[in-house]
Amino acid sequence: MGNDRGEELETRNPSVSRRTFFINAVMGFSLFSGIALMASYFIRFLLPVSRVKSTRKLYVGDVRQIPPGKSINFTDLKGQRLNIVNTGDEFIALSTKCTHLGCQVFWRERDRLFFCPCHDGYFDARGNVVKGPPPAPLTTYKVEVVGQSVYIFVDEVHV
Ligand code: FES
Repeated sequence: MGNDRGEELETRNPSVSRRTFFINAVMGFSLFSGIALMASYFIRFLLPVSRVKSTRKLYVGDVRQIPPGKSINFTDLKGQRLNIVNTGDEFIALSTKCTHLGCQVFWRERDRLFFCPCHDGYFDARGNVVKGPPPAPLTTYKVEVVGQSVYIFVDEVHV
């Protein structure tokens, strides 16, 4: 009789251990997948996607369109607005976005200053803060004059 009971236990144990093995395998796989996913996010956090920065040369116009003391507006293909100023000595390209809270600045020819109407911010022809709350100069862009043509260089970021 004791022998029958022992055989009965032996026949039950393999099925129980198979079930336990299956449950443990599923749990182990789930745990491993979760850890692998978290590790991939952590690695991405530590090593951000590399970005390639390139510069684009854009034709702005003819020098005769911007006489000394004048400025023209320019919008690139991405909608970025710039002002190109002829100071009399050189051409300067500046962002029209105020460094205070982002309002649009515009060129005041009679004062030879950029004016931000939001909080009375003033910048000189080179984009330096003259008066008001702006904390930094306007962003400038490289300008090149070839013959009668004015070009600017804008940065592009590719992911
Ligand atoms: S946003 Fe230009 S001065 Fe405030």
